[in-house]
Amino acid sequence: MKILFVCLGNICRSPMAEFIMKDLVAQQGLSDQFEIASAATSREEEGNPVYPPARRTLAEHGIRCDGKTSRQITAQDGEYYDLLIGMDESNLRGMKRVFGEKAAHKVRLLMDYTDRPGNVADPWYTDDFETTWQDVLEGCRGLLCALTK
Ligand code: 4NP
Repeated sequence: MKILFVCLGNICRSPMAEFIMKDLVAQQGLSDQFEIASAATSREEEGNPVYPPARRTLAEHGIRCDGKTSRQITAQDGEYYDLLIGMDESNLRGMKRVFGEKAAHKVRLLMDYTDRPGNVADPWYTDDFETTWQDVLEGCRGLLCALTK
């Protein structure tokens, strides 16, 4: 199962999802059954590492994200990955522009895997990375549950 998490900059929300999901999958001993990555709809942060407060929040919960740098989604991602998971509605529009209709059946919102669907809290303007952590963790737990039942 190949999963790509997508947000606007690929320095906050989607890398948090990538590394939380990798951690959950590892805890279940399922790492070899998953390929998990993240990417951006924009080129704004291309090549930049995970935003320090996002990295700190992961680290506070025992999760490392060393070496991850932002990259933009490509049309090829739409073919390669089995699931393309956005953090908010605007990410879905950004993905549709690049992936086209062919990948539409693989595109989801992360919070749709929880009992409170909608957008992941965006820390870019609020600086509240803990709320984002809670949303992303809940989404990833629901996603893993959906994929392993
Ligand atoms: P992210 O956060 O999409 O969760 O990685 C943002 C990062 C960069 C920008 C916006 C949101 N930006 O405008 O550059």
